[in-house]
Amino acid sequence: MNLFDVYPLNNIEIVKASGSKVWDAAGQEYLDLYGGHAVISIGHTHPHYVKRLTEQLNKVGFYSNSVLIPLQAELAEKLGKVSGKTDYQLFLCNSGAEANENALKLASFYNGRKKIIAFKGAFHGRTSLAVAATDNPKIIAPVNETDNVVFLPHNDEDALAAAFAAYGNEIAAVIIEGIQGVGGIKEASVSFLQKIRSLCDAYNAVYIADSVQCGYGRTGKFYSHDYAGVDADVYTMAKGMGNGFPVAGIAIAPKFKPWHGMLGTTFGGNHLACAAGLAVLEIIEQDNLLKNAAEVGSYLIEELKKIEGINEVRGRGLMIGIDLPESSANVKKDLLFKHKIFTGEAKPNVIRLLPALNLTKDQADQFLNDFKIALKG
Ligand SMILES: Cc1ncc(COP(=O)(O)O)c(C=O)c1O
Repeated sequence: MNLFDVYPLNNIEIVKASGSKVWDAAGQEYLDLYGGHAVISIGHTHPHYVKRLTEQLNKVGFYSNSVLIPLQAELAEKLGKVSGKTDYQLFLCNSGAEANENALKLASFYNGRKKIIAFKGAFHGRTSLAVAATDNPKIIAPVNETDNVVFLPHNDEDALAAAFAAYGNEIAAVIIEGIQGVGGIKEASVSFLQKIRSLCDAYNAVYIADSVQCGYGRTGKFYSHDYAGVDADVYTMAKGMGNGFPVAGIAIAPKFKPWHGMLGTTFGGNHLACAAGLAVLEIIEQDNLLKNAAEVGSYLIEELKKIEGINEVRGRGLMIGIDLPESSANVKKDLLFKHKIFTGEAKPNVIRLLPALNLTKDQADQFLNDFKIALKG
């Protein structure tokens, strides 16, 4: 059997990883500023993470949601504490798309409505409603097409107010990334998120904060939406949550009341996933990684802004977009193949930095140095 060939691949096999470094099969070392697409939050093969997962696997790796799994409550309590949303409720699932799918469903159950407001440039995943709320017609199959999702211009408060004025009582939810990732590191403005909050309150619509990529401490606050000083009704999270183990979740405000069967999943919240989730939060808390993400991130952004030949530097903390002119389209490949540094990308020509939250200043300097050389060509 062949693999279903959907991924354009770099010809590199990673066989070993530690912190923000990875090694290929030939023993070549790389600096990892991509984190396997914003997934590696506490660094590769962190000793505490490896120990906790190994110990859990030796006890019980999986049992279904038909029995008590106290690790779930432990994870919920820890997440409430580290994120500062202690009165929220946690539903555990397996991926970012599944988290958003459940959040949208929950909103619709809550107010009995069907319309979803999403924004130009948004990416929310590839399952049916999540992909329908994603601004990329190429990945929306005919069966996923729906009139229930309305796309509005990003950060346009007047357009948002006009949509609510026209059909506010039909709107189930507004879903928005605190910082668009796939869309090219575009931040939702503080006043835009505040406007979403006030309109959702006025019309009983649900504010869903897609924090799959920009959450889990990446920007220096637990959720990047926190910079707006408002609480969302539902936060969706995935990538950094398990440091590579597939675990995702939605944090749900107290006003939502669950009933048995309302949401569900076979794998979500299994013993190993919870152990991974707990190990990550323990390290985030113990090593003060939000502070590190804010500090090293600000340093990187400030230094990048001093470099000539860049169109724009965007982002917060360790979620950084370097928007390059067309003439520098080779820089990402040169960083990888000449300088041995992994970075992410966004179309048309944005380098995305999404490293582990414990990236050091020395590693940031190594990147800055090599980036300047790569930019000169
Ligand atoms: C903001 C955002 N939401 C949702 C998703 C989907 O997550 P997953 O690939 O885990 O389904 C992604 C993935 O890149 C994302 O960046």
